[in-house]
Amino acid sequence: MRHLPGTAQVVALANQKGGVGKTTTAVNSAAALAEGGFRVLLIDIDPQGNATSSLGIDKTDLDGTVYDVLVDDVAIAEIALPDVRPRLDLLPSTPALAAAEVELVGMAQRERRLAQACDVIEQAYDVVVIDCPPSLGLLTVNALTATRHVVIPIQCEFLALEGVSQLITTIDLVKRRLNPHLDVLGVLMTMFDSRTRLSAHVVDEVRRFFPERIFETVVPRSVRLAEAPSYGQAIAEYDPASRGGVAYRAFAGELIARLGLAVPTNGSVPPNTTLPLTNRAVR
Ligand SMILES: Nc1ncnc2c1ncn2[C@@H]1O[C@H](COP(=O)(O)OP(=O)(O)O)[C@@H](O)[C@H]1O
Ligand SMILES: [Mg+2]
Repeated sequence: MRHLPGTAQVVALANQKGGVGKTTTAVNSAAALAEGGFRVLLIDIDPQGNATSSLGIDKTDLDGTVYDVLVDDVAIAEIALPDVRPRLDLLPSTPALAAAEVELVGMAQRERRLAQACDVIEQAYDVVVIDCPPSLGLLTVNALTATRHVVIPIQCEFLALEGVSQLITTIDLVKRRLNPHLDVLGVLMTMFDSRTRLSAHVVDEVRRFFPERIFETVVPRSVRLAEAPSYGQAIAEYDPASRGGVAYRAFAGELIARLGLAVPTNGSVPPNTTLPLTNRAVR
């Protein structure tokens, strides 16, 4: 698949389980893609606003958030924070977004409000990354309606696949009713612990379940990845050479390939598309 230039590819990180690595993946892949020369918009559609704070943005000092886009029809271009990093814009979120879940219910086109807002920014970005909340409510449905591609992060832990079939059912429902283009781009294994047999076992199990969809890159459990947000930094800034930094660069490379994005020539540091952390290594 070759992607047409001039229209953004949209990718949503979704899994209704909390703590599986959605935000970590959204922030670090958005940062890696921007570093690689792509124009990126990161949309934080989780009321917890973790993606917003992970990039060091002060949530008490915002002129607008994704709430204004969803509920009050304000254009994304008016609200998005430009260049929070070179080539990376952020549509931020705050806890006030929780009210939108309720307020949207009575609105016309309530599932399509983000999609409609995204229609007019397609030319401005190469990639739009959406960080979903840990639920399958209207905010996640808005994200799934606004995207073609879903990436499902799955934590390498006991009962990893629990809830995934419910997520797939929701994706199928949105595909049938709202967004025929929607598809699962891939499944990303996160928080892999090489010291336990459980992690390797879980990767095998998920690979059996999604043989074609699982990404080669497996993100290791890494203290550096957990620390970076408290410094308001992506791993590419905090510790690019750490195992987590290498993994998210490799994952960004896989995203570029699966999305059929043409690698720009202006990237300061093109993402490393070699894959040093493959899940083959952990079989
Ligand atoms: N690979 C990893 N290694 C160590 N800690 C991680 C890793 N990925 C995420 N975390 C930490 O785990 C917690 C949950 O991750 P997060 O990305 O916020 O999940 P979600 O957005 O799905 O709720 C966060 O504190 C995050 O810093
Ligand atoms: Mg999150």
